Amino acid sequence: MRPRISKILVTGGAGFIGSTFVREGIRCGCGITVVDKVTYAGDLARLREVQGQYTLYKTDICQRQKLEDIIRREKPRFIVHFAAETHVDRSIQDVAAFIRTNVMGTQNLIDLSLKFGIEKFFHVSTDEVYGESREGRFLEDSILRPGNPYAATKASAEWLIKAAVRTFGFPAVIVRPANNYGPWQYPEKFVPVIILKALNNQNIPVYGKGKQIREWLYVSDCAAGIFTLLHKGKIGETYNIGSYFEQSNLETARMILRYLDKSENLIQFVEDRPGHDFRYSVDCAKIRQLGWRPQVSFEEGISGTISWARDNFSWLKGKVKYLQNHWKKVYRKSG
Ligand SMILES: NC(=O)c1ccc[n+]([C@@H]2O[C@H](COP(=O)([O-])OP(=O)(O)OC[C@H]3O[C@@H](n4cnc5c(N)ncnc54)[C@H](O)[C@@H]3O)[C@@H](O)[C@H]2O)c1
Repeated sequence: MRPRISKILVTGGAGFIGSTFVREGIRCGCGITVVDKVTYAGDLARLREVQGQYTLYKTDICQRQKLEDIIRREKPRFIVHFAAETHVDRSIQDVAAFIRTNVMGTQNLIDLSLKFGIEKFFHVSTDEVYGESREGRFLEDSILRPGNPYAATKASAEWLIKAAVRTFGFPAVIVRPANNYGPWQYPEKFVPVIILKALNNQNIPVYGKGKQIREWLYVSDCAAGIFTLLHKGKIGETYNIGSYFEQSNLETARMILRYLDKSENLIQFVEDRPGHDFRYSVDCAKIRQLGWRPQVSFEEGISGTISWARDNFSWLKGKVKYLQNHWKKVYRKSG
């Protein structure tokens, strides 16, 4: 059992990772306020099991006055900032919302945290800020070379945070998780797209020849890593969170199909994403020194995610109507 923290404000708490963090925090007795605009990617159903045990503000982090009123009223000690536009394909189609939320929204939070003397601010960034790595693993002080518009906005937010740390002594910790997967992930991301389409016996789009490599982190391990940093992370420092489990996208698609007992013929190679980063990989020695380790192997995580998807198929399917147009734009057939 983790020590409880009385006042945490969580932005993006209705999202995939944020809601996992909120459910876990409430289980440990933390007092949690959620600020979430509840965009297409947010869903309060993810918090159904803890309904009534947290305070919710359905608010946009770009609405500064509203955010200020919330912080004044709730007086949080810690802020954990997950809220973001998160889908790379959407950032390639139109980056405006990403600049607004990921960059300007983050600056609002920096300004208000400084104004109200927040004790510690946890900024959830991403391993994508490093750009691709052909070999080796990125360390926290590796150069940032974001390779797509989403990653560029996440790197921009990081630079604003680092500048505030240096200029104003902003008490921030930056977290860079690897690719997450697990229950409640919105089915525009790779793992739930495969599961949903395979369960529906539809073709599964795989970019290029599926050779891109990703490092996969189970979502509860990611949330646990952030809790470790809440207690032990040093202000001004950055921490990678990864699993050291890397696999090509094609292998991941094949593995999920095997688990579902479906044919590999469902895999359909589609025109590659422009500027598709080949591989992400992070060195996690720094957070491991604080006692954190991933607890869920990829095999366990994928089979748990699949059984969750079977039990919650109507939730996943309910998202499809919002995705049809998106899929049409993104997945152009090859050959
Ligand atoms: N999913 C991953 O694999 C992954 C990996 C590394 C880092 N991250 C980072 O972790 C964080 C959470 O990712 P996720 O996968 O849970 O994202 P998500 O897309 O599932 O959730 C994002 C949440 O932010 C909310 N939101 C968006 N714009 C907002 C705004 N202007 N004001 C208030 N709320 C807003 C949405 O409603 C949603 O609930 C993000 O910052 C992301 O960059 C994600």
